[in-house]
Amino acid sequence: MKTKPSYYITTPIYYVNAEPHLGHAYTSVMADVQARLRRAMGFDVLFLTGTDEHGEKVAKAAAEHNMTPQEWCDAQVPAFKTLLDLLNITNDDFIRTTQERHIQAVQKLWEVLKERGYLYKDTYDGWYCVPEETYFTETQVAHADEKRGQKGAHLCPDCGRPLERVQEESWFFKLSAFQEPLLKLYETNPHFIEPEIRRNEVVSFVKGGLKDLSVSRTSFDWGIPLPFAEKHITYVWFDALINYLTAAGFGSDSEEFAYRWPANAQLIGKDILRFHCVIWPAMLMAADIEVSDEVFVHGFLLMKDDKTGDETKMSKSLGNVITPQSVVDLIGVDGFRYFFMSNIKPGADGSISWDRMAQVYNTDLANSWGNLVSRTLNMSAKYFENKVPGPVAGWPDNSNPLKDIACGLVDRYTHALYTFAYDKALAEVFELIHAANHYIEEMEPWALAKSEETKPQLQEVILNLLEAIRIAALLLSPVMPQTSQEALQRFGQEGTESLVDKTLDEAVAWGNLLLEQPVVKGDALFPRLDINA
Ligand code: MSP
Repeated sequence: MKTKPSYYITTPIYYVNAEPHLGHAYTSVMADVQARLRRAMGFDVLFLTGTDEHGEKVAKAAAEHNMTPQEWCDAQVPAFKTLLDLLNITNDDFIRTTQERHIQAVQKLWEVLKERGYLYKDTYDGWYCVPEETYFTETQVAHADEKRGQKGAHLCPDCGRPLERVQEESWFFKLSAFQEPLLKLYETNPHFIEPEIRRNEVVSFVKGGLKDLSVSRTSFDWGIPLPFAEKHITYVWFDALINYLTAAGFGSDSEEFAYRWPANAQLIGKDILRFHCVIWPAMLMAADIEVSDEVFVHGFLLMKDDKTGDETKMSKSLGNVITPQSVVDLIGVDGFRYFFMSNIKPGADGSISWDRMAQVYNTDLANSWGNLVSRTLNMSAKYFENKVPGPVAGWPDNSNPLKDIACGLVDRYTHALYTFAYDKALAEVFELIHAANHYIEEMEPWALAKSEETKPQLQEVILNLLEAIRIAALLLSPVMPQTSQEALQRFGQEGTESLVDKTLDEAVAWGNLLLEQPVVKGDALFPRLDINA
């Protein structure tokens, strides 16, 4: 019996034609923060990520390496799993589109769509971009070529690379039948596409009219065969989107599927907006399956040159690719997670640079947060025999500036995180951290420690500080799990993973601090970086 509410969150499944990169890492961390938060809030989470292994692009990459496509995929997948480990990602499932469970789910969906009359056979005659795995019509291509001043060049309207001319027998999906239903969906469920700028983009695209979509290929064979037409293999995007259903039990476990579906949040980058917000909901409607609650669309990471200030998309040919490992080497795993979640406005493009990463790490983590923890633990250890102080009259009920900020903080924080406003949620927590640092300066505990008379006041000040740290650490744990856990352990407090009979919002209530616990000072949580070195 499932007693908890389900929370199902997905990332895109990543192409295995190349190595995993910072863009993949960014989406995965974003999803992980939400998954960790929801678990701490009492949800039964299914967090799915994985790899997209079929299609012409992957088949070509395999051929270039003299491998079969399957061998190539098997060789590439470990790097994607290593990236998840590196960043402390807690995905519950890792789907590969070459798995039997997925092949079955795709074939099942084919049957359903055919039965419901949304498929027909015809010939596709048009353009195809292999790197983007996308079809383009003659008009779209001509228009884009002309706009670029390269009439007749036949370049991809999206990425500018040369297109392939494709003429083959194909099964078509009646996408055109969904123009009105889709517009109605966007209107009645405005949160289906977030943020608004992306919804507007999709609405105007759909208003422009939809063409039926070629969804099977016959000119190569690296894909899932149609159950009713063996020489046809499934168009890779059609195949890939279905992964979200497969992992929820579609076609294999109806009880699980009823519990898990619809997905609560699907995270994607803006380059794959139309697939997820037009084709995907249309496929679901055609199969009479509910659409997901929300597709959250993030922007691109842009690389800022520290010297010139120029912003460019990261690319191998420009030689400005930052590997996830190199960022972790500089600022640690939690530093990585914190930087990307606090400094990129969710939904917008974000520019990153080495200088900025080091600066944010030093200012927020080494100086403000890390320093608060080490100063307070030092004082607690020094003045209270290596312990959290014991009870003192008036605590925790007395009013003080930290309690005032902590009160209502969890609501502001969860509201921001639930809506993917991670930067705002973190800013809320940092307000408490800054106030606590300020409180130390103002209360001067070292002066209070000088006389027996002021000892109760010192005790109260340290309790307030430790309570603020406990609350901040709990709220920071979805973003910085390791260091938050470490901070909490150093003064004998429960971390989010050990919350047994409470959810996060209950745990952070002011006054839940465990008193008289042993205090261990430990090394700096975030050693300062020497930026000018
Ligand atoms: N395989 C498809 C997705 C299928 S989902 C049913 C795909 N794969 S991908 O590997 O090319 O991209 C996966 C995700 O990484 C996309 O959401 C994409 O936006 C994201 N990123 C790729 N480069 C990026 C940046 N430079 N910045 C941020 N994210 C970007 O598309």
